Amino acid sequence: MVAVIGIVAEIKDGERRVALDPPGAGLLVDAGHEVVMERGAGEGSGFPDPAYERLGVKAVAREDAWGADLVVKVKEPEPSEWAHLRSGLRLFCFLHLAAVPELAAALAERGVEAHAFETVEDQQGRLPLLAPMSEIAGRAAAVVAAGELAAGSGTLLGGAAGVPSGRAVVVGLGTAGRLAARGLRGLDATVTGMDIDLDRMREDSLMGLVESTRTPTPDSVGEAVADADVVVGAALVPGARAPTVVRREHVAAMHPGSVIVDLAIDQGGCIETARPTVLSDPVYVEEGVHHYCVTNVPGQFPRTASRALAAAVAPAVEELASAGPGGRLPGSCNVRDGEVVHGAVAEAVEAARGRE
Ligand SMILES: NC(=O)c1ccc[n+]([C@@H]2O[C@H](COP(=O)([O-])OP(=O)(O)OC[C@H]3O[C@@H](n4cnc5c(N)ncnc54)[C@H](O)[C@@H]3O)[C@@H](O)[C@H]2O)c1
Repeated sequence: MVAVIGIVAEIKDGERRVALDPPGAGLLVDAGHEVVMERGAGEGSGFPDPAYERLGVKAVAREDAWGADLVVKVKEPEPSEWAHLRSGLRLFCFLHLAAVPELAAALAERGVEAHAFETVEDQQGRLPLLAPMSEIAGRAAAVVAAGELAAGSGTLLGGAAGVPSGRAVVVGLGTAGRLAARGLRGLDATVTGMDIDLDRMREDSLMGLVESTRTPTPDSVGEAVADADVVVGAALVPGARAPTVVRREHVAAMHPGSVIVDLAIDQGGCIETARPTVLSDPVYVEEGVHHYCVTNVPGQFPRTASRALAAAVAPAVEELASAGPGGRLPGSCNVRDGEVVHGAVAEAVEAARGRE
C-alpha cells in the first residue's frame, strides 16, 4: 500500500529535533510513498528544506503535513496540537502515555490510530526506537550532572590530590543508565549501579562501567543515595509508569546541593521528588537537592539526535506505512478504535485515572 507520510515540526519547549532527516525521508520516497514535510521542520537540526526536496519530499504548510495518512513526529502532541487529531489519522511518535493519560483519552476519543516509538520491540524484546535517544540522554546526563553540581554543592566529580572523587548512583542499568555510568566514570566519579537485573549488574561490573553494584531494596537505596553527590534515574518497565525506586526520605538525606537527574521522568519518574521540567527552565531545588528532570534531553543535541533517531525510525515508518491502516509493528500500537490497546500502557493509564 502507498501512503502519504507527513513530517511535522516540533513545538515543545527547546525541542529542535525532527523525526526524519533527509536520508530517512528519502528512503520512504524510494519505497514509493508520497512524503510531505512541514516547511522548516528540519531547520533546528541543520537540514534545510532543499536537502529534503532534492530527494523528492514536498515542503508544505503545517496543516497539509498534519493532513497526511500517517503523521510522523518526535514528541507526543502538545495540547495545542490536539486540534490536528482526527478520526482516520495514523500517528507515529514518542507518546509516553503512562505519564500523560489525558493524551491517551484525547487520542481514543478522536479515533486516532496511535503508535509509539518507545514500545516497539525487536525479536529479543529490546526497544530499538527508544535506544538511540536513551543513548544520547544517558551521555548527556553525566555532563548535565557535573555542570549542575558546580552550581549546587560546588563539588568536582573527579576530586583532586588529597580530596576524594564525587560519588554517583545510577538506578537502572539499561541503555541510558549504562551510558550515564560510563560518562560519570569518564569524569572520574565513583559510580554505584543499581538494577533489578543481576545479569546487567554483573556485565557492567565486568566491563568496568561501575565500581560496585547493589540490588535496589529500600535500605540499600537509602544508604547509597544518602552518600551520593549525583543520582541518575533510568529505571524502565516498558509501557508502564516508572517504578518509584528512590523515595523522598532518601532524597532528604542527601547533602545539600547534590544533584538528581531523573531521565525516567518521561514515564513518570523513578525518584519520588521528580516532576517534569523543560529545557528553558530545567532545574528546581527540592529537599535541598537540585533536580534536573527534562523530558526531552536529546532535543538539545538535535543534529546528532535527529540522525540517530531517523536511522532507527525510517525503516519502521516504511513498514507501518506499507502495512496500511490497522497494520502494526510488534508492540507499536498504543491506541486504536477508541481504546488503549497496549497491555502495560492500558494498565498504567487506568491506574493514573484511579489516582485522579
Ligand atoms: N528524559 C529524556 O529525555 C529521556 C530520553 C531517552 C530515554 N529516556 C528514558 O530513560 C528511561 C530508561 O530508558 P532505557 O532505554 O535505558 O531503558 P532500558 O529498558 O534499556 O533499561 C531500563 C533498566 O531499568 C531496570 N529496572 C526496571 N525496574 C527497576 C527497578 N525497580 N530498579 C532498578 N532498575 C530497574 C531494567 O532492569 C533495565 O535494566 C526510560 O524511561 C526512557 O523513556 C528519557
